Amino acid sequence: MLRVTTRPPLSPTTLAFDIGGTGLKASVLDGKGRMVHDRVRVPTPYPCPPKVLLANLRTMAKGLPEFDRVSVAFPGVVRHGKVLSAPNLVRAAGPDSDIDPALVALWHGFDLGRAVERSFRTPTRVLNDADMQGLDTVKGKGLEVVITLGTGFGSSVFEDGVLGPHLELSHHPFRKGETYDEQLGDVARKRIGRKKWNKRVADAIEALDALLLFDHLYIGGGNTKHLTIDLPARVTVIDPNAGLLGAFELWKERPRISSGR
Ligand code: BGC
Repeated sequence: MLRVTTRPPLSPTTLAFDIGGTGLKASVLDGKGRMVHDRVRVPTPYPCPPKVLLANLRTMAKGLPEFDRVSVAFPGVVRHGKVLSAPNLVRAAGPDSDIDPALVALWHGFDLGRAVERSFRTPTRVLNDADMQGLDTVKGKGLEVVITLGTGFGSSVFEDGVLGPHLELSHHPFRKGETYDEQLGDVARKRIGRKKWNKRVADAIEALDALLLFDHLYIGGGNTKHLTIDLPARVTVIDPNAGLLGAFELWKERPRISSGR
C-alpha cells in the first residue's frame, strides 16, 4: 500500500533502495513504514560494477531525508549480505547485452551488505528484490507466492507469513528449453509482443499453481502494466512501490542467511 506522509518522520527511519536491471529507486520510510519522500528514480548505469552502483546509491541518498538504517532490494541471489548472482548487472551494456566475465568476477561474492554499511555508516540489510516485495505484500495466511515482472522474473514464497528459502525460479526451466527469465523477462516481452507474452504469463501462473498449490499469488513489477489477461480470483496485482515498502518490514525479520546481518 502506498503510504506517503508529510508529518515529521518517526524513527527509526529506513533508507530504502530497490535496485533493478533498468532503474534504481530510493525513498525514506518512517517508523511506521510510510514513505516520507517521493520515490527517486534514476536509470541503472551500465556497465555497473559494485563501485559504480555504490556511487549511484550515495548520490541518490543526498536528496533524501536523514535515516537510521538502510535496506537494499537486490535483483539477484544474496546470502548473508553477499551477492551470489547478479544476472543483469553483469551485462556489459544493459539487459539485452552480453555478459562480461570481468563483471561476473566483481559481483560474485561481493559483500554488498558490508559495502553499503561502510559507505553510509549505518546498519544495512540486503535481500533479493522479489523477497522484499513479498514482505510488504503478503497477508500472512496460507501459502502465498509473489512473482515480479520486470527486467527479470522474480519470485518469493511465504507460508503463513514466513518467508521461505529464496527459489531462483528465474533460472529454472519454464518452457521450450528456456528459463522463466528468458521467456518472461523484458527482453522477451519486447521481442514477442504483448499477446504472446501475456499467454506465457498465464502459463506461468498455471505452472506455479501446479508446483505450489498457492492460496494466493501476487504479481508485482513494472511490466504488470502490460498485463491484459483476466486474472483468476486467487491472483492479484500489487503496489508498484512494494519493493521499497518491504524495506521497513525487513527490519522486523530476524537476520538470517537471505538477509544477512
Ligand atoms: C533474478 C532474480 C530477481 C529477478 C527480478 C532475475 O533475473 O535472477 O533473482 O529477483 O530478476 O529482479
